[in-house]
Amino acid sequence: MVDSRQYRKPSAGIHPPYFYPSYVSSVKRAPMRPLIVIPQTLSEMTGPVFGHSDIGATDADLTNSGGGEPLGQRIIVSGRVLDENARPVRQALIEVWQANAAGRYLHKGDQHDAPLDPNFTGCGRALTDEHGRYRFVTIKPGAYPWRNHRNAWRPMHIHFSLFGAGLLTRLVTQMYFPGDPLLTFDPIFQSIPDEAGRARLISAFDWETTIPEQALGYKFDLVLRGREAIPMEN
Ligand SMILES: [Fe+2]
Repeated sequence: MVDSRQYRKPSAGIHPPYFYPSYVSSVKRAPMRPLIVIPQTLSEMTGPVFGHSDIGATDADLTNSGGGEPLGQRIIVSGRVLDENARPVRQALIEVWQANAAGRYLHKGDQHDAPLDPNFTGCGRALTDEHGRYRFVTIKPGAYPWRNHRNAWRPMHIHFSLFGAGLLTRLVTQMYFPGDPLLTFDPIFQSIPDEAGRARLISAFDWETTIPEQALGYKFDLVLRGREAIPMEN
C-alpha cells in the first residue's frame, strides 16, 4: 500500500520571509534578487560530520559548564526530531545557545545592563538517539532588550541549530515558552505568517519530564518538513 502521507505538501507561510520590515535587520539582510540554487557535489554530501566521539558526556547539561550552579530556574528541554512522516531523525547534531536567567548573553556584543553568570556559558549540544530524541538540562532564559524599535524586548527563547547528514544541511530556529506575554510584540516571532507554525515554536510544559524538587520540564519537537514543519530561519 502506498503511504499517502508521503504526498502531503507543505503549507504556505510556515517559514518567515527574508524581508520583514518590522524586523529591522531583515531590511538590509534580505536578498533583493532571486536565490540561485547551487547543486551539492560529492564533497558536500560526503564531507565531515559529527559523531558520538565529538560530543562530550556533559555537553547537553548547560548547568554544568562552570565551577558551580548557575542562577535561575533549572529546566529540562527535551523532544524529538522527526521527518514529514513522523519517522525519527537519528544522529542529528543539535546545538543550543541562550541568554542566562537575567537575559544576558556571554558575548562581547551583549553589553546591556544585566549581570553575567560565571557559572553559565549558555551553550550546549547533543545528538539525537535511535528514536530521534534529545534532552538538555539548562536554566530558563530571561527576556532581554534589543534595539529593533522603542522598548523592544525579546521573549524568553532558546536558539536551536540542527545539522543533518552533512555540515551544509543546517537548520536554525528558536524555541519559546508558553504564556510569554512578549510573544505578541516580537517581530521575529510574528514574522512567521502561519499561526499554527508560530504555535509549533512554543514549547509545552511537560509534567512527565519535570524532576521533583529539581527541574521543570518543557517539550519541544522539531518536524523538519511537510505540513507540520517547524518554522526555520534559513
Ligand atoms: Fe537570542
